[in-house]
Amino acid sequence: MADPARKTNPAPELADAYARVRGDSRALAAPLSDADATVQSMPDASPAKWHLAHVTWFFETMVLKPNVPGYRAFDDSFNYLFNSYYESVGERQPRPRRGMITRPHLDRILDYRAHVDAAVAELLAGDPAPSVLDLVELGLHHEQQHQELLLTDILHLFAQSPLRPAYRDPTPLPVAQGPGTARFLDFDGGIIEIGHDGDGFAYDCEGPRHQALIQPFRIADRCVTNGEWIEFIRDGGYRDPLLWLSDGWAQILEHRWSAPFYWEECDGEFWSMTLRGMQPVDPNAPVTHVSYFEADAFASWAGKRLPTEAEWEHASKGLPLAGNFAEGGAGRLRPKPAEPGRPGLRQMFGDVWEWTRSPFTPYPGFKAAEGAVGEYNGKFMNGQYVLRGGSCATPTGHIRATYRNFFQPDKRWQFSGLRLAEDA
Ligand SMILES: [Fe+2]
Repeated sequence: MADPARKTNPAPELADAYARVRGDSRALAAPLSDADATVQSMPDASPAKWHLAHVTWFFETMVLKPNVPGYRAFDDSFNYLFNSYYESVGERQPRPRRGMITRPHLDRILDYRAHVDAAVAELLAGDPAPSVLDLVELGLHHEQQHQELLLTDILHLFAQSPLRPAYRDPTPLPVAQGPGTARFLDFDGGIIEIGHDGDGFAYDCEGPRHQALIQPFRIADRCVTNGEWIEFIRDGGYRDPLLWLSDGWAQILEHRWSAPFYWEECDGEFWSMTLRGMQPVDPNAPVTHVSYFEADAFASWAGKRLPTEAEWEHASKGLPLAGNFAEGGAGRLRPKPAEPGRPGLRQMFGDVWEWTRSPFTPYPGFKAAEGAVGEYNGKFMNGQYVLRGGSCATPTGHIRATYRNFFQPDKRWQFSGLRLAEDA
């Protein structure tokens, strides 16, 4: 979390940001019926209604209850319904059973949001302490994380329906020009610095900034494409155990993976479920919805490897945080082919989260914050891998070069893809 002494984001600016982010969530939910927003399609995914309520519960629990004397909770039962994983805040609805919360209705959740919004607006109109501003800011970044999850979870839900409904306009997107063969850019080895320097907002797990030793390496100037992935499939990539980590091969045997998540083969052509309904797979766009195990196997097949997170962050130094993001739900919501001919690294931000070969572990000197917010990231630092760069479902402005996303290596429902690297 940001340094409480920082001078950025005073209350009026934070109030504007609050209105914008909260409005984005309402806009993302607008195309959904109460039923769309209630059903849970798998234990990893949450109903949209739950996301909308949980982020509101976060403000109520972390910001309002401790800092607004006489604050009246909207509904005392919501603490049980919408706590995610905060042991220090009490018992909660088990995660795999969030879809059982058919009541309250979506409308009541929107009323809950309005109740909390009014209280936060009043708090910010006063002269809140810097520590309170920090919690509001954390709450906004938390809400943006859930905006992305709302989209990925709706995609998963809609993919279960025989009708394959489209969340957004299903008109096929124009086919873009191919990105050209990937070029590998050289970077020197040595002692570098990575991690957030404390200037502006960052999650606790992004710091402290520290030294890392890297060897000379080369990294691809764009992400791996669907077309390249189809070559991997046609070459028997999913059938050759020698390409796979042992745990990854076990997934293949158990789940019979033979293509990225959401892909279906029809008359020799690949189609994919997307937020715009079923669409032909665009060979020029970055591959997405692949697990760490698949990304690693592809890299082995290609005679390359995944970058480490230190290499990725070092390579991204100085690049603008521009790319194909969600734009409050108004974006493409699908990865886009890399711009042909543009020199330097392309697609580092937006399009697809890029798996790295780095496990999600604490940086040297990391300490979880005191209290409930200390449960935010620290307790997840085992058994997961770091992904970098954000995706086409990431809210615009949410990403940083130091941002560390993390998922277990078998997960595929996020917009996760890869970029290749190799030793120089
Ligand atoms: Fe959360």
